[in-house]
Amino acid sequence: MDIFAFVLLLLSSSLLLFFFVPSDAADGIAKSESLTEGMTLVSRDGSFALGFFSPGNSDNRYLGIWYNNIPGRTVVWVANRLNPINDSSGMLMVNSSGSLVLLSQNTTVAWSANSTKKAWNPIVQLLDSGNLVLREEKEENPEKYLWQSFDYPSDTWLPGMKLGWDLKIGLERRLSAWKSPDDPSPGELSWGVELHNYPELVIKKGTKKFLRTGPWNGLGFSGVPNLNDNPVYTYDFVINSDEVYSIFHLIKKSVISRAVLNENTSSYERYIWVEADKKWTTYISSPKDICDTYNLCGPYGNCIIGESPICQCVEGFKHKSPDTWNPDEWSKGCVRITQLSCEDKDKIGFAKFVGLKMPDTTYSWVNGSMNLNECRVKCLNNCSCTAYANSDIKNGGSGCAMWFGDLIDIRQVAANGQYPSMQDIYIRMPASEQVNHKEEKDKQKMKLIVIVVVSIAVVFGVLLILYCISKRSNFREKLENNVMIDQNVEGQSEDMEVTFFTLATLATATDNFSSNSKLGEGGFGLVYKGTLVDGKEIAVKRLSRSSGQGLKEFKNEVILIAKLQHRNLVRLLGYCIEGDEKILIYEYMPNGSLDSFIFDQTRAKVLGWSMRRRAGAAVACA
Ligand SMILES: *[C@@H]1O[C@H](CO)[C@@H](O)[C@H](O)[C@H]1NC(C)=O
Ligand SMILES: *[C@@H]1O[C@H](CO)[C@@H](O)[C@H](O)[C@H]1NC(C)=O
Ligand SMILES: *[C@@H]1O[C@H](CO)[C@@H](O)[C@H](O)[C@H]1NC(C)=O
Ligand SMILES: *[C@@H]1O[C@H](CO)[C@@H](O)[C@H](O)[C@H]1NC(C)=O
Ligand SMILES: *[C@@H]1O[C@H](CO)[C@@H](O)[C@H](O)[C@H]1NC(C)=O
Ligand SMILES: *[C@@H]1O[C@H](CO)[C@@H](O)[C@H](O)[C@H]1NC(C)=O
Ligand SMILES: *[C@@H]1O[C@H](CO)[C@@H](O)[C@H](O)[C@H]1NC(C)=O
Repeated sequence: MDIFAFVLLLLSSSLLLFFFVPSDAADGIAKSESLTEGMTLVSRDGSFALGFFSPGNSDNRYLGIWYNNIPGRTVVWVANRLNPINDSSGMLMVNSSGSLVLLSQNTTVAWSANSTKKAWNPIVQLLDSGNLVLREEKEENPEKYLWQSFDYPSDTWLPGMKLGWDLKIGLERRLSAWKSPDDPSPGELSWGVELHNYPELVIKKGTKKFLRTGPWNGLGFSGVPNLNDNPVYTYDFVINSDEVYSIFHLIKKSVISRAVLNENTSSYERYIWVEADKKWTTYISSPKDICDTYNLCGPYGNCIIGESPICQCVEGFKHKSPDTWNPDEWSKGCVRITQLSCEDKDKIGFAKFVGLKMPDTTYSWVNGSMNLNECRVKCLNNCSCTAYANSDIKNGGSGCAMWFGDLIDIRQVAANGQYPSMQDIYIRMPASEQVNHKEEKDKQKMKLIVIVVVSIAVVFGVLLILYCISKRSNFREKLENNVMIDQNVEGQSEDMEVTFFTLATLATATDNFSSNSKLGEGGFGLVYKGTLVDGKEIAVKRLSRSSGQGLKEFKNEVILIAKLQHRNLVRLLGYCIEGDEKILIYEYMPNGSLDSFIFDQTRAKVLGWSMRRRAGAAVACA
């Protein structure tokens, strides 16, 4: 390039840097031109810039792409990740045989673009999408780029970038995290599409699976409940004979968002640029909880946040190891309660499960044109088929997905309610089991309805009275005089007493919540053993402050637990609310098992109900 053009380029690019104005110059270099230290290419609308930089505390020079309009240089792509340049001699150019090369010291090739076709009149251009392309000057068809940086992602997934496979040329587009903020070379963590019959997005740590999204079911990934339920971006997944990839687009171009793999935190993070704050804000981060851990609960285990232990079994299965509290044993998973015989088809059925993340699809099979019934028949006729589902849930569901062998990496996605990407799965069961299972479920459902209705009536009444009284006088004092509840649920009729305890009483009883008196720890808090002044032994469950429950909800819950207690469960004696403290007091049973003290299962269910009730209770005393 001649001096004049060079000065012009420098001027225009520095103008751009100062004023962030779009320009139609300097978004590309032609044959016989080059990009060296101090120069940048800026995409036509000014969104992205290409140039040399040093990451973090490093002195190494890399060629990279970053957001041009965002202060603080957020790098989205790096060319010479593996081969840093140690001085300012870097030079990007199209060499005489039409290859895009990054040279150092004038001759050493630090990096070259992997274009296979020879270019006649090639130009390099940085597009507004952040894609750096090598193309024939006259050729604007994206399908015919000779090379594009979107085919060789670094750690950042940009809008419009395909993550997945070009099957025609066997190209995999896969993200890999930077080793550290100082070193953009690929770390352990990578993210791509697993090419199973039923494909899914998987993050790997080295060669080990780390996190699955679950397969794409037409509306979303089965394990990501509200993927497209946001104002910023939409995801899609394309499967055809040429390509299998996932992609996302921004809904409004003005809201900038990117997804990044982070080696340090072992997670992927989706950021949104908040212009008002001038900073990137984490919008979503995955894994979002422990149940996202790949195969945490082993075969047929169902990871449920809020249950203790969180590794439960899919219904119809039981823990393989009796030591269900030991996290080391969780991955052993679950086994069938009743063995399956394959030959006798009359004795085999399928149980339907809702709200689960679909199991690992490594051993799966899909036919997009079969319906659910054909799918069932096909699965029934193959002994190694353990489950089936509609492969696509759009428009009421279509297609057939089948799983073979043990089902792994299942989790409860949402305990209550529906979500857009919820996909039903049918798991092979002995027919006997399935029938019992179903009847029992129906019975339980009836019971639940009765309990909920009665509870709502009683609790509503009690609450209404208490709430109205509390408007004038001290609610706690009233409660201290013991709330009497007529326990008329499930045909029993006996009076239930729940006593209010002061924190001081409990502190004395438990030796100031000393660690010596600690019995154990549940999902909702710590459990202590205590002795009251009269010698009576109690178990004290101190709910963690982070349980996020309001005072009113807690009171409702105490009343409900009291009402629902069953003869063979540990008795709730009372409760305590003081300041931030919310405490439940149970009868201490020397031979009782710890889990009945911890009581979390019942609590989790009760919680579900109190949610439902809240809508109705809000009307009281308005
Ligand atoms: C920089 O790298 C070149 C080869 O790439 C090497 O010959 C040179 O010695 C290095 N310089 C320093 C200061 O490390
Ligand atoms: C251009 O670069 C490519 C890739 O590094 C290389 O194979 C080729 O020999 C180079 N051509 C010339 C003329 O240097
Ligand atoms: C780079 O190499 C070319 C020939 O390959 C030569 O003409 C030019 O002078 C060299 N430039 C420098 C700075 O070494
Ligand atoms: C370049 O392409 C060849 C064959 O197409 C492939 O084996 C190689 O891994 C590619 N290199 C990079 C850096 O993608
Ligand atoms: C990794 O993260 C921890 C905290 O999460 C932080 O203290 C540390 O500095 C980070 N390391 C790097 C290299 O970023
Ligand atoms: C898929 O199912 C349809 C309808 O049952 C059938 O015609 C077709 O052959 C199947 N395709 C494969 C690959 O099994
Ligand atoms: C059952 O499915 C597996 C996996 O697709 C297949 O290998 C096997 O041949 C099938 N068996 C029968 C009897 O169709």
